[in-house]
Amino acid sequence: MSAAPPAYHDPRTRCDRTPAWGALQQHFQQSGRHFDLRAALEGGGGAARVAHFSQQAPHVYADLSKNLIDARTEALLLQLARECGVEAYRDAMFAGCPINHTEGRAVMHWLLRNPPPDHMNQGAAAIENAASGFVAEAAREVQATLEQMLALAEQVRADDAITDIVNIGIGGSDLGPSMAVKALDDLRPAPKRLHFISNVDGMELGSLLRTLQPERTLFLIASKTFTTAETMTNARAARAWFLAQGGSEQQLARHFWALTTNLEAAAQFGIHTTLGFWDWVGGRYSLWSAIGLPIAIAVGADAFRRLLAGAHAMDQHFRRAPLEQNLPVRLALLDVWYRNFHGFGSRCVAPYSHGLRRLPAYLQQLEMESNGKGVDAAGDPLPYATSPVVWGEPGTNGQHAFFQMLHQGPNVIPVEFIALARPGRDLPGQHARLVANALAQAKALMRGRPSPDNPHRHFGGNRPSTFFVLEQLTPEALGALIALYEHRVFVAGAVWGINSFDQWGVELGKVLAQGLEPRLASGDTEGLDASTAALLGRFQVE
Ligand code: F6P
Repeated sequence: MSAAPPAYHDPRTRCDRTPAWGALQQHFQQSGRHFDLRAALEGGGGAARVAHFSQQAPHVYADLSKNLIDARTEALLLQLARECGVEAYRDAMFAGCPINHTEGRAVMHWLLRNPPPDHMNQGAAAIENAASGFVAEAAREVQATLEQMLALAEQVRADDAITDIVNIGIGGSDLGPSMAVKALDDLRPAPKRLHFISNVDGMELGSLLRTLQPERTLFLIASKTFTTAETMTNARAARAWFLAQGGSEQQLARHFWALTTNLEAAAQFGIHTTLGFWDWVGGRYSLWSAIGLPIAIAVGADAFRRLLAGAHAMDQHFRRAPLEQNLPVRLALLDVWYRNFHGFGSRCVAPYSHGLRRLPAYLQQLEMESNGKGVDAAGDPLPYATSPVVWGEPGTNGQHAFFQMLHQGPNVIPVEFIALARPGRDLPGQHARLVANALAQAKALMRGRPSPDNPHRHFGGNRPSTFFVLEQLTPEALGALIALYEHRVFVAGAVWGINSFDQWGVELGKVLAQGLEPRLASGDTEGLDASTAALLGRFQVE
């Protein structure tokens, strides 16, 4: 790309320096912390509350009414968002400004799901035309790469010789595609199997290789940087296996493709087919880019475009809806309310959908790598908490594992339920049973059950939850749901005044691992702290 990103200065005010922050603290002390969900939902005003605190956004319905929030809290939180400059910051992202200022990069994963200009309605096209040269140039490259990627996906789908596609990647180069392929499994042609290898533990790749035939396998080496140690180690192991099975260097070029921004490193690896992308696509936001090739192979070009269209619809909602009716904004403000005023340290995500079973893992990276930060944009330490711990498992499995704690543990943990109105594939009666469980858990958390005679059986209730309903797990709905979470993370990060788009916190461990690896062989503990030295000794082979 030749055009430069537009000039930029951070339009935000840090949340604790706004009038709304103090007003929220006061409101919390006076009444906010005593809010009672049962009184709010079971009295005469219940229906009006549900109408007010629920919303249909593109492809996603959200019932927010079981949250510890009233009209005053909501008004103050919206005031907070405005005073923090969330709208200007959002517009800076959509203008292609380098809001990832610690890496000097624009943040434009949303551009990957923009329809080509000839598919846009006139209003949208006019806005896009007004975009800077940088965004317009990027948009052209995006469309060209998308066409190329979808053509490759269709080529693989039509190639009967290839039965197994192995994606080797980690973090954003694994979690998004792996989650989406599982969610949209019904669209996958039966003879094609997709595998995701991420762990540098040889157990993972080694077990898979035992089941593969080299001539029927396509390896996708997915790495934005093409330097990530785990991915490159697995990629080299796969290549060694391929050659050891009798494959030639020439055949290798047909069976190994790369998805990366580092075209040179991919070429040095011996790869001829490379799909590129750009530094303005963050790893955890990259499933819409070339990193999405395994999704496109699994579901086909049309369905991949539908995934993009669903995400684009949510982008439009986020850009255009007033803050009061803006679902990512409302969710993010609840996150701030819970984290910084109630002091809740974690949030549980419980998809009542087998297809969405990897969503919690995906969200762990999206949310905690983005917003697990301790300094503001200027580098000053923050006097308040940021990302909660995000965790979860699909329902109903979680009910038989950790829901005990959600109901009776001393700490309140807001829960997010996600359910489908219509199942993709069902066995008689099972969908109704699944949904009944989700509804029951949300109700039990809210309502509780007093047990005056036996404290062990007492449910305190008043435990908050949000309930999402997707009509069906279509590509559009999945795209919209993921984009909803992306923008929610963006808004929370905007309020907290942090850079949600870097990840310096993962660097130190990588560097130390490089230094420790040779010591495992040599046994050299010189200069190590006592604990690490003693542990290292445990790994010495006699
Ligand atoms: O864990 C850090 C990280 O840089 C993530 O942000 C990223 O998604 C992952 O590693 C993989 O990076 P790459 O795609 O460059 O291999």
